Amino acid sequence: MPHTATPRPPQSDGDLHLRFLERNREWSARMLREHPDLFAELARHQTPFALWIGCSDSRVPPDQITGTMPGDLFIHRNVANMVVHTDMNLLSVLDFAIGTLGIHHVIVCGHYGCGGVKAALGGEGHGLVHNWIRHIRDIYRLHRDVIDAIPSEDERIARLVELNVAEQVYALSRTSVVRAAWDAGRPVKVHGWVYGLHDGLIKDLGVTRTRYEPDIGPPPASPSGRAAV
Ligand code: CO
Repeated sequence: MPHTATPRPPQSDGDLHLRFLERNREWSARMLREHPDLFAELARHQTPFALWIGCSDSRVPPDQITGTMPGDLFIHRNVANMVVHTDMNLLSVLDFAIGTLGIHHVIVCGHYGCGGVKAALGGEGHGLVHNWIRHIRDIYRLHRDVIDAIPSEDERIARLVELNVAEQVYALSRTSVVRAAWDAGRPVKVHGWVYGLHDGLIKDLGVTRTRYEPDIGPPPASPSGRAAV
């Protein structure tokens, strides 16, 4: 089985699901050969070492870009890797990850060229997704002076991608779940990363939070060598 991307089928390809199922059988057989005990071990329990909060974008697969295996990452994904305080899905995942699974590393990973962030810098839309995008537009409003001073549109988008991640790290540090863990003396760390679609590399923004702080602090330094956006 070559490690190539799934051949791009026409939208009308009614048998696409069969190809996925066939590939699944091949994957399962390969995993059993290479890691004979893995499935038996994972069937008993999970002990992931990190919670990943990432974008739904198909080009940013958490397991593959971190070289991790099944059982390593607990994952939550949504458009533009947002932490919305009333999102019961996110909060439930966070509570289970920290409270039950005992995870100490929470990673928010955005990516350059994020469609959700691009949309937030564009015009107001009326589609359903624009209700979600509003959260990112609010972050733009918070940092409007910084963003508007950047002459290049690509750079503006990249900067908002980074600021969005920093704000989601901040938002996590405000959740009852993370604060309770810190109050209990647990060494929970919340990290902010950005993935580059152009080179497959993850950049650590250096916005890691390890305790409750009253203010968000300065935004992360803008990196050189920007991704194609
Ligand atoms: Co995205």
